[in-house]
Amino acid sequence: MNILVTGGAGYIGSHTSKLLKKAGHLPVVFDNLSNGWAEWVKFGPFAFGDIRDEEALFRALTSFKIEAVIHFAAKAYVEESTRLPEVYFDNNVNGTISLLKAMKRAGTKVLVFSSSCATYGNAETPTIREDHQQVPTNPYGLSKLLCERVIAATAPVIGLRYAMLRYFNVIGNDPEGEIFERHEPETHVLPNLIGAAMSGGGFNLFGTDHQTPDGTAVRDYVHVMDLGLAHIRAISELATRERLVSNVGTGSGVSVRELVATVEKELALRVNVQEKPIRAGDPPALVADNTYLRTWFEHNFKTAGQAVREMAASIRARI
Ligand SMILES: NC(=O)c1ccc[n+]([C@@H]2O[C@H](COP(=O)([O-])OP(=O)(O)OC[C@H]3O[C@@H](n4cnc5c(N)ncnc54)[C@H](O)[C@@H]3O)[C@@H](O)[C@H]2O)c1
Repeated sequence: MNILVTGGAGYIGSHTSKLLKKAGHLPVVFDNLSNGWAEWVKFGPFAFGDIRDEEALFRALTSFKIEAVIHFAAKAYVEESTRLPEVYFDNNVNGTISLLKAMKRAGTKVLVFSSSCATYGNAETPTIREDHQQVPTNPYGLSKLLCERVIAATAPVIGLRYAMLRYFNVIGNDPEGEIFERHEPETHVLPNLIGAAMSGGGFNLFGTDHQTPDGTAVRDYVHVMDLGLAHIRAISELATRERLVSNVGTGSGVSVRELVATVEKELALRVNVQEKPIRAGDPPALVADNTYLRTWFEHNFKTAGQAVREMAASIRARI
């Protein structure tokens, strides 16, 4: 299929594009490079543009004869969203509305949307099922929830089949090292942790007094390659169903201290941990109930240890 990958120059989008190409699809990246990298657009054509530009999207959808869209493009920094909520709502929600308008005009009928565990807010249960209440604790999570609602309300009217995949915390990189995790600024835990271990610099551990067993935040870390494969599977599922709303997570929680211990063990290096206060809007624990995911995507998920080894190898190869 010809698949438009919005945000395909970013971290998850570039990894998914690589997997799409391997699976025989043509990934057409649509990105404004606000947080992505032109050199990562190497698995198919590049349509430069902003998702709030309906005409640019319409041109990309029609000129590349797009059959499905995977919509990754978004601003995705929780902390930044607490300072710039209006920027997040404009980019993420207006961008999604503009995409829906362009898809309606172009007659493109399949959409996979990047949602997030951030739509749930504080977990009321040890693991989170898809029917858990959605009360986001930050504007980023709210922007993703608003997109979900807009898509769900619009899809039946315009005949769109859609998947909403609520990812938990995404880690890892391409084991072949062709692309890797790169954000500026880098706020994601694993690159910062491995970088600190290798350089001897400090690692900021945000929050040591959460209501969790060791006081640090517990997250469900899902490997980016596993996540990319889930998107490809979701597109196949939409051939026979109208909608698919599913968590994508491993079902196991790892605390930040446990992640530090994994990095120290795997790399045989000490991490210089610097304890900092809890970040605004950071829930104590977010772990997926992946029972439903396993009904449509049976898969052996990579562990955090594998992600650490692969990422360390990729960093070593670059220095
Ligand atoms: N990384 C995670 O742990 C995680 C977890 C849950 C959900 N998500 C979602 O997954 C998606 C991808 O996340 P990521 O970590 O790869 O982020 P990323 O910042 O690496 O990639 C996002 C890409 O979208 C592009 N983009 C942003 N606004 C745009 C716009 N207006 N027009 C065109 N392109 C635009 C950026 O240039 C970038 O290339 C996001 O929607 C994010 O909310 C990520």
